[in-house]
Formats: sequence, C-alpha cells, structure tokens
Amino acid sequence: MNTSALAALRQSLPALKLTTEASELEHYGRDWTRRWTPAPLAIAWPTDTAQVQGIVQWANAQAVALVPSGGRTGLSGGAVAANGELVVSLERMNRVLAFDAIDRTLTVQPGIALQTVQNAAIEHGLIYPVDFGARGSCQIGGNVATNAGGIRVIRYGNTRNWIAGLKVVTGAGDVLDLNRGLVKNASGYDLRHLFIGSEGTLGIVVEATLALTDAPPPSQVLLFAVPHMDALMQVFGACRARLSLSAFEFFTDRALHHVMAHGAQNPFAEIAPYYVVTEFDAGDEAQQNAALALFEHCLEQGWVTDGVVSQSEAQARSLWRLREGITESLAPHKPYKNDISVRIAAVPAFLHDMQALLSREYPEFDVIWFGHIGDGNLHINIVKPEGMDYAAFIAECERVTELLCEVLVHHAGSISAEHGIGLVKKPYLGSARSAEEIALMRGIRAVLDPNGIMNPGKLF
Ligand code: FAD
Ligand code: MLT
Ligand code: ZN
Repeated sequence: MNTSALAALRQSLPALKLTTEASELEHYGRDWTRRWTPAPLAIAWPTDTAQVQGIVQWANAQAVALVPSGGRTGLSGGAVAANGELVVSLERMNRVLAFDAIDRTLTVQPGIALQTVQNAAIEHGLIYPVDFGARGSCQIGGNVATNAGGIRVIRYGNTRNWIAGLKVVTGAGDVLDLNRGLVKNASGYDLRHLFIGSEGTLGIVVEATLALTDAPPPSQVLLFAVPHMDALMQVFGACRARLSLSAFEFFTDRALHHVMAHGAQNPFAEIAPYYVVTEFDAGDEAQQNAALALFEHCLEQGWVTDGVVSQSEAQARSLWRLREGITESLAPHKPYKNDISVRIAAVPAFLHDMQALLSREYPEFDVIWFGHIGDGNLHINIVKPEGMDYAAFIAECERVTELLCEVLVHHAGSISAEHGIGLVKKPYLGSARSAEEIALMRGIRAVLDPNGIMNPGKLF
C-alpha cells in the first residue's frame, strides 16, 4: 500500500475527499465488464478543476497511475482499476455551468449524467441528441472519453459532433481550454478531437460545452418481424428511401428471448429470426401514410412478416424496451461482448461471412446479435454455456475474436465501433489501425502524458 504517497496527497489537497474503504475500492474499481478484480489504491472525488490539476501534479511527482472514472457503464474495461491506481471519480463535478441561448450551447461539468443533460436541453426548448440505454448512469466525461454513439447516430452522429468546447487537464498537468464553443476556428490542429475517444489516456475532461439542436417533429416507432438476414438491409434501404429516420436498430430471436425472460412483452404471436426497430418523423398524415405504404411494400416483397407501429408514447417506449433492455437482460450472464463496425454498404456481405464464422465456431453457444445496423455497427454477445469454466470460456471467445478480426480486416471494419478499446479489445487494436497509426498514437500519448500516469495499460 502506497501510504506515504496518499499522505502527501492529503497534505497537498486537504479539502479533497479521499477514501481507502474496501467497499468503495470494490465499487469504484470496476465498470460493467466485471472481468477484472478491482484493486485501486484509493478513490478521490475532486470538486473543481484546481483539485483535478493538483491530483495530476501529485500523480506525476509520486509516480502513481490515475484512472478517470465516470458512471462506470463502460463496456471495454476503460475505467477498471486493478493495479493500485488512484481512481479519480468526477461524480461530484456534476453541475450545469451555463446555457447560451444565442450559441445554443450548454456548458457542463464532466460528472453530469447524460439524462440530466438531455433534460436540461429540453427545459430550454432544445435537445442534446446523443442517446442510449445507459443515459441515467453514464456521464458526459465518460461519453466524451469514449466518443459514445447510441441509437440516434444515424441522424445526429456520435458525441464528437456535439462537443463545441472542452476543458481538460492533460497528463502533464496543464489546463487546456479547447475551442471555447467557437463554430469556426481554423487556427491549427483541433486538439479537442484528440481528447474525444481518448479513453482517459491523455488527460481528464473537466468541462464540456455541448452543442444543442432543435427538437425533432413528433415521431413513431415501427417494429418489424424479419424472416431472414438478407432482408434486414433491404428493409433498411426501403425505410431510408421513404421515411425520415432517427433510428434503425435490429436484434435477433435470441435477444428477444433474453429480454422477454427479463419482463418485456412480445407484441407478435409468432417468433421471427430477426427484428428491426426504427423511429421516424411522423408529424403529419403524409409521413404516417408513407410508413403504412412502406410496411405494405415490405410485406409484398417478403422482407417482413409482421409489424406494429406505435400509437402512443407508452407504446413507443415498450417497443424500444425490446431493444434497449437487451444489455441489462444479458448482464447476469456476464456475456463476452464484441462491438464491431463496417461501412454500411459492406453490412450484407459482412453479415454472411460473420454468420458463417459464428455458426462454425460457436455451434453450442448462445450467440446474441443486436445493435445499430443502420450505422454498420453490430453487437455480438456470447453467453457462456452452463458448466463451462469462465476462464476457458473467455479463452475460447478470444480465439474466435481473432478469426472475427480477419473477417473485419477483409471488410475494412473496426473491432470497436463505440465502446472503446480499453482492456477488452487491446489485443486486437492492430486489426483496426495500422502500425504507423498506433506509433503516432503512442507519440501523442507521450507528449500529453510524459510520465505515463493516465490510465496506463488501457488502449495500448
Ligand atoms: P466510464 O465507464 O466511467 O469510463 C469510460 C472511459 O472514459 C474510461 O476509459 C474512463 O477512464 C474514461 N473517463 C470517464 N470519465 C472521464 C473524464 N472525465 N475524463 C477523461 N476520461 C474519462 N455506449 C455507446 O457508445 N452506445 C450505446 O448505445 C451504449 N449503450 C449502453 C447501454 C447500457 C445498458 C450500458 C451499460 C452501456 C452502454 N454503452 C453504450 C457503454 C457506455 O455507457 C458508454 O461507453 C459511456 O460513454 C461510458 O460513460 P461512463 O460515464 O459510464 O464512463
Ligand atoms: C447497446 O447498443 O445496447 C449498447 O452498446 C450496449 C451493449 O452493447 O450491450
Ligand atoms: Zn450500442
């Protein structure tokens, strides 16, 4: 135990809340992956930028590693502290600092929950459009550090698109105020973007200025039962051509099985192998009629076998629950997760290659597919067969992930679409990024974190 280092921290920042209490170490030392045993040195809860800077300066002086910690909903092990690190929880820095009606921006501290930001935007008659199932627990700092995606990327893009300004404390202890909310700024490298998706390896986000936008028109949700895999992207093409989409997601019968076992209701009498959930603008009769015509067209083509369109907000929510409840329904099984992407145009060919691989390699395993297929992003979750040793299960899944990487390389895809590399996908970074790119990333990291104190062991 690094007690003298902690004593020095207490002395230099006497107002900083710090603990070494075992239950807190356990709680704050892990994220949703639950694969590593938490073993941090201590947990710190700074309340302002000066305290964060003080912690970083102390970490450099004492050679203690830091793990920035948000809502710990991460799925790549990025917020795991298993090697005597100091966890820096940003959860006490959770305020809205400013709203600017002219710029239409909201400036917030990093520990604010995504849902609180969404609600604050609505109070000002606008929206913050990044959205996904962990909205109540994940934090803006974590969203920035992972460049979070979610269910509205098809219309609004990832978190990156909504960051108008970022204040960070670098691993070297410098405070940088990046872009300051400017819409146009052609004054050299846009360093803000280096920190977006950096997974806590370059510094700590201490403030974010978020761009807001107009609320969309009223929408409806359509759930389609889809008889075969090839039809998924045919339905996508038809939906995109005829409707104004704000989401296009899919899941399989196995996903439905788990989510129903968790309390959701199947709106159809029969089980189909695939399902699509799509949300579209339905503010007028013409848009609603277009959706009905689309449904009939898909039925005629044999691309769907059944469908239901939401007639109320409550019904829309219950249809969304079928898709958004999947992660929680699987969590008790500690699934092995893959989160991959290919270009949208490559999805049909990729689906074929991937299905051939998975049915060859996992004939006995429960393989659950779902995700943001309209963005070319598929989530593949593998549930451990009962009785199989957990370590053997992970080893087997890692072996298949290597094969999956070969398929991804063939289709020029990525081993992480939105969850990040963290610890989970570290061995496979080379399948998505060239040796030259990784060398450059290492160089950037060395400049911003010369002593290697920021989330060491994560990403590469
Ligand atoms: P954490 O898990 O705490 O941390 C994630 C990474 O960010 C770590 O590397 C950490 O060190 C770093 N970090 C955290 N805060 C800071 C900071 N202030 N400064 C610097 N680095 C920091 N993700 C998606 O992209 N799309 C989805 O659709 C989606 N759906 C999800 C649904 C569920 C039910 C769950 C549980 C997770 C889902 N996720 C999804 C994953 C996760 O919610 C996101 O990755 C989210 O952005 C993580 O935020 P967090 O605050 O929980 O970060
Ligand atoms: C989702 O889209 O539901 C998430 O990314 C979470 C997951 O992959 O489990
Ligand atoms: Zn997702």
